[in-house]
Amino acid sequence: MSRYDETYAQAQSQPELFWEEAANEIHWYKKWDKVLDHSNPPFYRWFPGGMVNTCYNALDHHIDDEGYGDRLALIYDSPVTNTVQRFTYSELREAVAIFAGALSKLGVGKGDRVLIYMPMVPQTVIAMLSCARIGAIHSVVFGGFAAPELATRIDDAKPKIIVAGSCGIEPGRIVSYKPLLDTAIEIAQHKPQHCIVLQREEGPADLKPGRDIDWSDAVGNAQPHECVPVASTDPVYILYTSGTTGVPKGIVRDSAGHMVALKWTMANTYNTSPGETYWAASDVGWVVGHSYIVYAPLLQGCTTIVYEGKPVGTPDAGAFWRVIADHKVKTMFTAPTALRAIKREDPSAKLLADYDMTGFKALFLAGERADPDTVEWAAQHLRTPVIDHWWQTETGWSITSNFLGLGALPVKFGSSTKPAPGFNLHVLDEQAHKVKPGVIGALSVKLPMPPGCLPTLWKNDEGYVSSYLEDYPGYYKTGDAGYIDDEGYVWVMTRTDDIINVAGHRLSTGGIEEVLAEHPDVAECAVMGVHDELKGQVPLGLMVLNAGVNRPPEEIVHESVQLVRDKIGPVASFKTAVVVERLPKTRSGKILRGTMQKIADNEDYRVPATIDDPEILGEIAEALAAVGYPKQ
Ligand code: COA
Ligand code: AMP
Repeated sequence: MSRYDETYAQAQSQPELFWEEAANEIHWYKKWDKVLDHSNPPFYRWFPGGMVNTCYNALDHHIDDEGYGDRLALIYDSPVTNTVQRFTYSELREAVAIFAGALSKLGVGKGDRVLIYMPMVPQTVIAMLSCARIGAIHSVVFGGFAAPELATRIDDAKPKIIVAGSCGIEPGRIVSYKPLLDTAIEIAQHKPQHCIVLQREEGPADLKPGRDIDWSDAVGNAQPHECVPVASTDPVYILYTSGTTGVPKGIVRDSAGHMVALKWTMANTYNTSPGETYWAASDVGWVVGHSYIVYAPLLQGCTTIVYEGKPVGTPDAGAFWRVIADHKVKTMFTAPTALRAIKREDPSAKLLADYDMTGFKALFLAGERADPDTVEWAAQHLRTPVIDHWWQTETGWSITSNFLGLGALPVKFGSSTKPAPGFNLHVLDEQAHKVKPGVIGALSVKLPMPPGCLPTLWKNDEGYVSSYLEDYPGYYKTGDAGYIDDEGYVWVMTRTDDIINVAGHRLSTGGIEEVLAEHPDVAECAVMGVHDELKGQVPLGLMVLNAGVNRPPEEIVHESVQLVRDKIGPVASFKTAVVVERLPKTRSGKILRGTMQKIADNEDYRVPATIDDPEILGEIAEALAAVGYPKQ
């Protein structure tokens, strides 16, 4: 019998009491004056007046208060470098305290920003926790982003120090991070005082004298630093995510609410206890990595895994099962796209038979819609619950899930089950009225949001309000459309804006359009997310050239693809574009991206009544056919 209903009801009826009890699970230097400050709507603050330290809760508490210093905290498993390295809680704290000392020696203190541009190595986690230790605010940038994206984030966060790896390792190639970092600093208006560079033997970098410091020199001269108490509401990190334009949004995470929420989820959502191994196969550059590679497992006293590899090709489609067996993983979290990659190479999951999976109890999926085929495939072969849960960078933890710790609810394939306690979720129509069960509308959370969700955007309260709160007063707009059925199950269908999910990575098609528009021969363009068997969606571009351009269109397409790679990064997976004579528009000039996407995906569509010239749709279909759309 699940305790979900009563738990959800408690959080609805007495939210402050509910979260106060959850808050007692973490260590406080000083407890809060109030559980929730709602004196300044639409801005809400959790646990004001309290003093905490996230690193203390993630490390020191387990060692000094609980006596678990010898327990494994982190396992680095890197098939791409053939390395496995283990850190106990005491060892991890030692490394973190020293690096915190190194940062402090360079003048980094409370409230200063540190940008981290690193691959999946333990030093990335060490750098993040070190910032938290001294009250500095980290901002991790995913390694697959190119220099201009990095520069935008440098200019917004204005870091005092940047911590970077010399390179990342992708199957078959070394990605040199340092030249990208150098270019980004050159482009950015803001200049960091120093860069600490982790030299990796697979691809060491040239250091710039005076500015760049080798990681080993930085820690060689440092003394361990103690945890610095910070206010509950002080940010622990900023994480940039795609907005509806090329300018990313700096999602702020407050210190106390973040810990309280994550700790609650470890027990109640994931059913994971201290001492167990929890693995999120994501990247620390994404929110999943922040919450479930770094913070939540360590806050819960679990062992976490930093995996530098892929689901396939490192070396084969059994890689995930190997990690689970080798490190006795109980609970795993990944994106559906990773499972699709495995399923494509090993459709009957033969490789599973090579591994001892007896300790494995549950697989959680998020990052994009989990297609029922993939979920069923995984459930059939793993013989464990496979749980789709829905969340976003903004919330930091799942808005809907099936809560294993409360007793699982019956699964409906295609639904991410029910709202998490604290999320008062509704479906609204365009006039902000609640709709009936089963009717699709804007999935929106009635304010206040529970702890852990963004309190605002970095130095941009106005942007926070206009992006999320203005359209439906009193609600947070998730940007996803879907419905809630008559049994309260939530079905997340699609984004309502131009955000697409490519292999679980969030991208803005508007951002890609901005880059294409920079090409000197492109007059106008449209980018849309089209269905992809592996990645869920990939961006596809249509471009109209300037009058008088008579170069071969293939050349321009090739240059545009390269431009997106250089400006946004390989992570955009922008490989296909096509030149067309004109784009279909409404009479008021709005490009009909949705209609074109339906043509590319072979979905039924109605010719919009407002279309300027319906004949253009035929031309678009022909152009798309020339680049293989719709796919067979
Ligand atoms: N640094 C530099 N480049 C990176 C990178 C990084 N950290 N991560 C990805 N890239 C590059 C890849 O090498 C690839 O480059 P290419 O165009 O030269 O091949 C490109 O970015 C696209 O990467 P990706 O979307 O990951 O595609 P892929 O074909 O390499 O792999 C999957 C496909 C499904 C195996 C892979 O996307 C995967 O493992 N996904 C898991 C999803 C995930 O972790 N999501 C996070 C949210 S939970
Ligand atoms: P990100 O901020 O990168 O985590 O991306 C968040 C977006 O990914 C959400 O707004 C959804 O569009 C999508 N998403 C994440 N998880 C799910 C899920 N379980 N089902 C459907 N969409 C999801």
